[in-house]
This record gives sequence, structure tokens and C-alpha cells, in this order.
Amino acid sequence: EAIKHAKHQPDKVLLVNRDLADMPMQDGRDVAYEPQRTKHLSTQVPCEWVESSHPSYILYTSGTTGTPKGVQRDTGGYTVALGSSIRRIYLCEPGDTLFTTSDIGWVVGHSYIVYAPLIGGATTVMYEGLPTRPDPSIWWQLVERYRVTSMFSAPTAIKLLKKEAPDAAKAHDLSSLKAFFLAGEPLDETTSAWTQEALGVPVIDNYWQTESGWPILTLPTGVAPIERRLGSAGLPVYGYNIKLFDEETGAEITEPDKKGIVTIASPLPPGFMQTVWQNDERFISTYWQSVPSQSVYNTSDWGIRDKDGYYYILGRTDDVINVAGHRLGTREIEASVSTHPGVAEAAVVGVTDQVKGQTPIAFVTLRSDNIDESSLLAEIQDVIAKQLGAVARPSAVYPVNSLPKTRSGKVLRRALQALAEGRETGDMSTLEDPGSIEEIKNLF
Ligand code: PRX
Repeated sequence: EAIKHAKHQPDKVLLVNRDLADMPMQDGRDVAYEPQRTKHLSTQVPCEWVESSHPSYILYTSGTTGTPKGVQRDTGGYTVALGSSIRRIYLCEPGDTLFTTSDIGWVVGHSYIVYAPLIGGATTVMYEGLPTRPDPSIWWQLVERYRVTSMFSAPTAIKLLKKEAPDAAKAHDLSSLKAFFLAGEPLDETTSAWTQEALGVPVIDNYWQTESGWPILTLPTGVAPIERRLGSAGLPVYGYNIKLFDEETGAEITEPDKKGIVTIASPLPPGFMQTVWQNDERFISTYWQSVPSQSVYNTSDWGIRDKDGYYYILGRTDDVINVAGHRLGTREIEASVSTHPGVAEAAVVGVTDQVKGQTPIAFVTLRSDNIDESSLLAEIQDVIAKQLGAVARPSAVYPVNSLPKTRSGKVLRRALQALAEGRETGDMSTLEDPGSIEEIKNLF
């Protein structure tokens, strides 16, 4: 399906048969993995020497607009960052075993399933599948079987396991584990404390982004023992100069416990993104010119710092939402919802969800009165699953007569989110049509 849609048609496609479905092959283009694998098993592949600034990969990630950005990474700096962090942060020495439960298509998987463990001389466990299949003890079975020494996951997965099989870990020998790391979304105190109790090892939060490629905030306990604080993502990692700024004035926030935009002053550490692939302008305007009167890297996250320098991440400053540790742009979901033939306009916001952190919901205006609203949710979910993946499917779709907009035509997404979460909308004086917000209030 993906190849059918691609503008660039690949010359060759390597196909791996997992015996899950038919595997039709196209003559001249497709090559079966077996027998190629057996044939080349002992082939020596020489190193290709490149400049340290040579791009190693591009990963697309969401932002404020409907078009994802290609995060371009270098080679040398990334190697330094991963070679250091695998030991100093993830506590893996040569010979140790890291089990990262991510997907290699995401940054956590790139960094800590593939490159970092191998650069650091550690063994990596790559597991493809859900934490609950074939049963919710599969992770702990793997830890026991492979004597895993460090594990890295996301809070959503832990919440799921806590709900489905709270005692599963206790039935396995996890004595090889030194620490358990979590990233990708806020780690609440309950989940953190539960995980620590269930596994009997320190639980360490780490905050970072596709852009950074490795942790921005955490506790590098491989450098020195550091006190943990529940609810805090930790201290700035060596190499990062973190500053907080006021969103409106651009003034630096130096006093403790005051909310600001989390930024990184230049120079950025090794491993950080080089630019937006083929779009230096976008790299500059999005990341370096978005804090008033400052030239600092903008993470687009809110945060506070306590009097001892510990940071607390409070969520995104832009239209990005975090669903089960996945970063999604609400504008991309809107663009996808709007491809449903019945939909005229769409607004998507993230609302709080007990397990997934946030879940998208959509407000839509319809092209005609004859559209069957009873099947709309399923149809839209299907469109999104095909275009963006199942994780981006809205959990609810609300057909409305009009979307609340300002006189200049901006949809008031924060107001929609507030109402859906049962909060007050705040100032509505810029609203074009007061009736539009009343209609939405009545939905909740
Ligand atoms: O909002 C922050 C949240 O996830 C965003 C980055 O997502 P992504 O590019 O997919 O990279 C994930 C790499 C771990 C951040 O801007 N986020 C990530 N980690 C945390 C977090 N929010 C709170 N606490 C964290 N530990």
C-alpha cells in the first residue's frame, strides 16, 4: 500500500515472510529475504568512512502546522551522545543487556534499540508486538530469559500492565535488572511509585524529543548518585544549557516554581538535530525565532524549575498532543479528517485520558444534512487509521453547526479542549459567533 502511494518508486524491495498473510511478489523488483540472508550471513561489510557532520538519518515529526518536519541527524555527534548516554544515563556497560520496548521507527527505537546499545558494546533486545500479547507477562519473561540489565519504556505501557496484570512481574526473576527508564510523556507519581514497587529497582524519568535524539532532562546516575524527585523529569543533562522564558515578554525566568517555555541556549550538545531536512528556513523560524526577542532553541514545552534546579514538564505550548507516548499534530489529524467526503471543516483537540495521557477528539461541520451521523465516527476512524495510523484515531467525533472562531478566522481550539475536559473557556470576547460555543457547551 505504501509503495503504491509513494512518489518515489523503489527499484528493489526486500520482503520478509512472517507467514501472517499472502506475500505476492513483483518480478524484477521484489527480493525474498530468505535465501538472501543465509547466502550473505558471513559477508564482511567494510566501514564506510564519512565526515562527522554527514547526515545519518531523517525522522519526520509533528509540529504546529499540518506538514511534519524531517529532523536531520548527523553521524559523529550522535555517536558521541549515544556512546556516552548508554553508560552514563542508561547504566549499560559492555556486556550488559538493554531492552527498549519502543519501535525502531521512532526516535527512542533508533537511539536505544539500534545505535546506542551496539555502539556501547551492549546486547539489545528487540521485541515486536504489544506488551499484552501473548499475555501481559511477556516483558518479564524476556527480562528473565535474557538477563536484561536495563529496561526502557513509556508510562502508557506501564499503566496498561498495571491495569491488566498487576502481579505479573512478581512471578519472574528480575534480579538482573539495575534500573527502569521511562520517557515520551509525563510520568505521574502514582505510576512511578507503582513501577518501582513492582520491579524493585529505581525508576528514572527522562525527557527528550525526536529533535534532541537523546535525553535533555534526566538523572545521569552513571556520573554520580543523584536524589530523585517524584514528578520531576530531572536535571539538565551534561551538554544542555536549559533556560525558561516568559511566553509573552520573552523575559528569562530565574525565580523558582514559575512556569515558562523550556528552551536550550546554544551551542546545542552533540547528537541534536542539524536542521530540518531540505528546509533550513523552517529550522530557524520554528525552533530559533519563536521565543519573543530571544535566539534560543524552543522545545515547545512548558516547564517549571524548583529551587534546587529540578525541572517539571507541564505539556506542550503548541498544537501537538501526546497519545500513548506518540507525538501527534492536531493539524495533521484535522487535514486527514477533512478528507472524509462528508466533512466540510474539522477541529481536533487532545483531551485527558486515564491510560493514554491524551486522546484526540474531533469537532466537524458536515457538507450536507443527509450524512448518516451514526456511522461517521467509524468511517472517520477508518480514514485516520489508514492515513496516519491507529494511534491517531479520534475517540469521539462531534458534528456541529459551526466551529467557534475568532473574527480573524482562527478556531479556538483551547476553548474546545477546555469544554471537553469540563473546564471554563476563559475569555471569549474575540468570538465571531457566540452561538457556536453555546452549542459545544451543550455537548458536555
Ligand atoms: O512534550 C514532550 C513529551 O514528548 C515530546 C517529544 O516527543 P517525541 O518527539 O515523540 O520524542 C519522544 C522521545 C522520548 C516532548 O516535547 N515528553 C517526552 N518525554 C517526556 C515528555 N513529557 C513529559 N515527561 C517526559 N519524560
